[in-house]
Amino acid sequence: MRRHHSTTPRTPRVLGCLLLLAAAGGLSLGPAPTAQAAAPTPLHRVVPAPASVTPGGTPYRITRTTRVRADGPAEVRRIGTYLAGLLRPATGYPLPVTDRGTGGIRLRLASGDFGAEGYRLTSGAGGVTLTARTPAGLFHGVQTLRQLLPASVERKTVQPGPWQIAGGTVQDRPRYAYRGAMLDVSRHFFTVAQVKRYIDQVALYKVNELHLHLSDDQGWRIAVDSWPRLASYGGSTQVGGGRGGFYTKADYREIVRYAASRYLEVVPEIDMPGHTNAALASYARLNCDGVAPPLYTGTQVGFSSLCVPKEVTYDFVDDVIRELAALTPGRYLHIGGDEAHSTSHTDYVRFMDRVQPVVARYGKTVIGWHQLTGAHPARGALAQYWGLDGTAAAEKEQVAQAARNGTGLILSPADRIYLDMKYTSATRPGTKWAGLVEVRRSYDWNPGAYLPGVPGGAVRGVEAPLWTETLATSAGLEYMAFPRLAGAAELGWSPAATHDWNAYKVRLAAQGPRWDALGIRYYRSPQVPWPAR
Ligand code: ACM
Repeated sequence: MRRHHSTTPRTPRVLGCLLLLAAAGGLSLGPAPTAQAAAPTPLHRVVPAPASVTPGGTPYRITRTTRVRADGPAEVRRIGTYLAGLLRPATGYPLPVTDRGTGGIRLRLASGDFGAEGYRLTSGAGGVTLTARTPAGLFHGVQTLRQLLPASVERKTVQPGPWQIAGGTVQDRPRYAYRGAMLDVSRHFFTVAQVKRYIDQVALYKVNELHLHLSDDQGWRIAVDSWPRLASYGGSTQVGGGRGGFYTKADYREIVRYAASRYLEVVPEIDMPGHTNAALASYARLNCDGVAPPLYTGTQVGFSSLCVPKEVTYDFVDDVIRELAALTPGRYLHIGGDEAHSTSHTDYVRFMDRVQPVVARYGKTVIGWHQLTGAHPARGALAQYWGLDGTAAAEKEQVAQAARNGTGLILSPADRIYLDMKYTSATRPGTKWAGLVEVRRSYDWNPGAYLPGVPGGAVRGVEAPLWTETLATSAGLEYMAFPRLAGAAELGWSPAATHDWNAYKVRLAAQGPRWDALGIRYYRSPQVPWPAR
């Protein structure tokens, strides 16, 4: 902030700034909470928007004597322990987790019309209760409870509070069962710790699928015992020529375990038959001409293909899918299938006809990028649409036709929720082949009506991919993901009736201080009325 002395002749400059900030509600002067800071967050001011909110009654106040009551199976107690762990650093309270007593913060399972992931939150003077049919529902309810507390609850040192939750009831359940975030760990490698950090960030918005793009031209990132050079050599570099890396099987299991503890299912992707230079470089015999190409550290696409006529290709595919399926408790295995520009259409169809049954043989359901709809999607397969508003009608119709024939769709329109698109021409990281995607544009579309001719039930959900040709650090990921990831998560969770940019931008603005507290360096879009820092 820059001001001229002449405009504030009797106010010292620094104090003037502080008073302005305080008037804007962005700063409390000293540790004593201001009246404004003490008002609890209204129950509807969370992201994703809850399905239904009935405000009223006295707020609940968390105090030094509050207990977290988790009565039920061990998993309920684990979620209670997770919640207490979130709240202890900033409150400084002991928050014991117990199955005894009355009042406090209570987590309970009960039968009822909650669905597989819904929950009810009731808050009043005597306590807060989260009720759900499943632990997943309780976990999502915990994320709502968290957002109803002041943003400073996310800090790792003791904060002044008070820690109030507005009175009333939230009744909530998701619009779609599949609410995904994809991370490209191939173009740049991200460590287990970095992936866990992203998992925690997306879990706050009730995302429940973590799609890992594990292989591409620039790097193979998962250990395969029967083809060890895929990781040791194919994983040894990345875009720009850096060291790359790969997950050992133990690393990968740890990602899967951690994701599950945040109620995310991991969807591993091996992209085939294109985007395979790292594999082709690792094993000469996978190439039609028997010659291994060099490793690749650029950013072109569409130049590589597995050798569809060679039998060894299917030995390779079988081994990779078998080992990956064995590491994967989740239902899905993503086989890519995009941008196979160096594979003839006939070969593409032949390849997909042979590979999809392999996925089924190892007990998994196929997901493919939407080009799979140009072949013969297997029964039960899901296609992930990554076109644009302006994609040719014939291509959209091919996807819609597959949907009418029973193929489920995951929507990832690139000019809406590809998180690597630049926000504006001034955004330094990112790409812009799908256009510039400001925050409003990424939020303002309806997954249920996005592709013409698609039956409503065919849309299984929404996924926000984060490609990493230009991103090499967690700070880079976070700057591109936030705030847009929150909007994609809301499109996946919230009822269409809640969709309203003007209301959303206010709820989104309230996330800014939370991201600050969490150390997430986000894009402060001028479209969003962020509180002053
Ligand atoms: C893609 O962006 N090639 C799926």
